[in-house]
Amino acid sequence: MLAADADQSRPNDLDAFWMPFTANRAFRKRPRIVSRAKDMHYETPDGQKILDSASGLWCCNAGHARRPIVEAIQAQAAELDYAPSFQYGHPKAFTLAARLAAMAPGDLDHVFFANSGSEAVDTALKIALAYHVAKGEGTRTRLIGRERGYHGVGFGGISVGGIVTNRKRFGTLLSGVDHLPATYNRDEQAFTRGEPEWGAHLAGELERIVALHDASTVAAVIVEPMAGSTGVLPPPKGYLRALRSICDKYGILLIFDEVITGFGRLGASFAAERFGVQPDMIVFAKAVTSGTVPMGGVLVSKPIHDAFMTGPEHMVELFHGYTYSAHPLAVAAGLATLDLYRDEGLFERARELEPAFADAAMALKNLSGVLDIRTIGLVAGIDLQGHADQPGKRGFEAIERGFHNEGIMMRVTGDTLAITPPLIISEAQIAELFEKTAAVIKATAQ
Ligand SMILES: Cc1ncc(COP(=O)(O)O)c(C=O)c1O
Repeated sequence: MLAADADQSRPNDLDAFWMPFTANRAFRKRPRIVSRAKDMHYETPDGQKILDSASGLWCCNAGHARRPIVEAIQAQAAELDYAPSFQYGHPKAFTLAARLAAMAPGDLDHVFFANSGSEAVDTALKIALAYHVAKGEGTRTRLIGRERGYHGVGFGGISVGGIVTNRKRFGTLLSGVDHLPATYNRDEQAFTRGEPEWGAHLAGELERIVALHDASTVAAVIVEPMAGSTGVLPPPKGYLRALRSICDKYGILLIFDEVITGFGRLGASFAAERFGVQPDMIVFAKAVTSGTVPMGGVLVSKPIHDAFMTGPEHMVELFHGYTYSAHPLAVAAGLATLDLYRDEGLFERARELEPAFADAAMALKNLSGVLDIRTIGLVAGIDLQGHADQPGKRGFEAIERGFHNEGIMMRVTGDTLAITPPLIISEAQIAELFEKTAAVIKATAQ
């Protein structure tokens, strides 16, 4: 075992940390290490500034190391480091839950806290199943996800998810799951800003799935309002509304996984608000604390919550929860983050910047090897022509090139770039971000 370097920012042994969703051997040969961050930038141990085009991992919506959030976390650690949420409570947890419920559309009045998007997804799926039992409809056990959906990496999440690489090595997963088709079709939708005109009819596939299994066996449908991790797929116009009405027709719960669309990414508190469609539950995580302290959760509608509030009052109503549900540090970070979003008007800012951001993204359209660009809110997905027999290699080259040569942190999925900067980005930085992106695209062209 090696002792840490005297300079903590420079690890001298990269071997022990098995990095998640990372090409570990390639990383160890040519590491990409950041040791500081402020506002729109990371910094390497050598002092190189790296523009953050990805909000870390779609989470640092308020930018990095923002003073009010930092101070709230520091103060909380000194005041109340930890308190259990099983049978006990601490004040700020209730305040944050109420604040989130007030932000959420309609009757999403209750919050169940978890620590990540994956945990929050599993929580929502479990609540859906238990809800139907509570209502005397325990035959409703099937869960419907969507091809190309990403719902984290728990067994529930990968079962309803639709990304083959995340599923194929992990056994038979949950039984009784079915999938809607993905909503993307390049021939019909290429280079669309916002919601594509084509594709609402694909919601009708839910009718087919329900007919196959019978409504009495279907518990819930879970979708990302805008699929993010699979490469930025905004929903076709009318698609989410159609899903809602089919779910209503058959008594099926509709869950929006808003782990990346929540908290201003699409210029509204939640995508549900932007698209005017009311789900029965919203899964959130990431930007609720602007990425500073892990937190996830589920916003649950009043009727679902109330269905559990029966039986003897000394009894636990839902046998589910995490040691760190509503952890005091996460809660303090969440409250400070929501204050910052409000005080700086960051959701409105995202909405105002959307046209300029989309223009800057679409300006890359004619670069060689750009197959499609999709934009919505402060998000752009750019599909690149990959190496014929090595999918994902160009995406990997883009990460390396961006970091080492252009000073930009890029998020890629396969050969698709996902641009999703903090909402504090200035117009000048938008220009800079897409200049760097263009340079990366040119440098990695075949
Ligand atoms: C839509 C969606 N759901 C769930 C998750 C999983 O979140 P976590 O990585 O915090 O478990 C993600 C992560 O990117 C996500 O994008």
